[in-house]
Amino acid sequence: MMFQILIITSLVALAAGSSSCPPAFSNKCICGRQDYSGDHYVVNCSYTGFTDASMLQRLPPETEVLIFRGNNVSELPVNIFGIHNNTKLKIVDMTGNHIKLIRGKTFHHVSNVQRLILNHNDISISSDNPTEHHPRLFSNFENLEELHLTDAFADNTPEDLAADLHDIFVSSELKKLKKLHLEQNEIFQFDDEQVFCDLPSLEDLHIGQNNLHGVSFNITCMKNLRFIDLESNSIYTLTPKERARLDEAVTSRQHDLEIDLSNNPLSCNCEDIYNWLNSTKVDVRNKNKLHCVQSNQYKLPECNAKLIKMQPLIIDSNSYFLTSLLFLSLCASLALNIYSHRSRIEQTLVPAFHSVTKKVHYTSITKSELPEMDV
Ligand SMILES: *[C@@H]1O[C@H](CO)[C@@H](O)[C@H](O)[C@H]1NC(C)=O
Ligand SMILES: *[C@@H]1O[C@H](CO)[C@@H](O)[C@H](O)[C@H]1NC(C)=O
Repeated sequence: MMFQILIITSLVALAAGSSSCPPAFSNKCICGRQDYSGDHYVVNCSYTGFTDASMLQRLPPETEVLIFRGNNVSELPVNIFGIHNNTKLKIVDMTGNHIKLIRGKTFHHVSNVQRLILNHNDISISSDNPTEHHPRLFSNFENLEELHLTDAFADNTPEDLAADLHDIFVSSELKKLKKLHLEQNEIFQFDDEQVFCDLPSLEDLHIGQNNLHGVSFNITCMKNLRFIDLESNSIYTLTPKERARLDEAVTSRQHDLEIDLSNNPLSCNCEDIYNWLNSTKVDVRNKNKLHCVQSNQYKLPECNAKLIKMQPLIIDSNSYFLTSLLFLSLCASLALNIYSHRSRIEQTLVPAFHSVTKKVHYTSITKSELPEMDV
């Protein structure tokens, strides 16, 4: 009995082990069935040090989930997944690969992919440069439901990123897309009001952590839209037109519309925005994180009391805990250093400060990576 169990477990281990990846994967990846919100055939090439992605052309045909994270691949080749119809492929995660260039013909044979994740890359899509700008980039993702582009573009991205993205949405015909993530891309304006109108199935629009000043785009064209994340932008108020648009979106359809305006520097003049927030039928998420800014100070205007039923301004408990922890450890290390090396206080303060800023950056990245695992 013991012996049989041993044989079975070692067979299972063998089947799930790296040995089942094709030779092109150089024993650096894990291929096999595993639990990825359910039992799926997963190919996982994470933090392997690959500097090109050519092995993906030999992707096992049964692959349902491809995880290719944290490598160093600046250019994606033509026909990245080979010339076969990868009919089983549902999820492609290419987070954090320093990808700069995606070619027009990179993504072929991906008709059943539902989720594409390209977060934390340095992609250039500028229409100023014909080698970079491929408006039909995502056109072969005929069944794409989720597109994750958080912090996906190069830091020196010109101001017209929004316009170039619009081109892609128009030409790629993502008719089934339900979730779009565009956080942390320094977008400050959508020049064309119709920017999202070619995404008719869109339900959740995540444009938090940008530099937006309002909701200057058409909402009514997205009949299924139920959530707009505008958290941590530069919104001071919403114009009467923008408010009317949001109100109309709620009254003209059967389902609710939710917005998140937390951590924006809202106006403290009640007439500007708080009175509207109090009366609108739009659901306002995270009301306890709404605040206004006056003379560089965060405040709660009096009219906000009704809105949040006199709750005090709540600092996010996680970051509060982290900040206090860091503060305490900073104090402790400081005291220790003062005690032992009086003369070297200055040198110790500098690295300690760096570790604090690193931690803060880390927490802001993890938010975009919250699992959305359902296949
Ligand atoms: C993929 O591999 C990386 C590195 O080996 C590991 O940390 C990660 O948990 C794996 N992901 C899944 C979903 O198995
Ligand atoms: C892939 O699918 C398309 C249509 O879905 C078909 O025309 C084509 O022949 C298929 N190619 C292969 C290599 O199976």
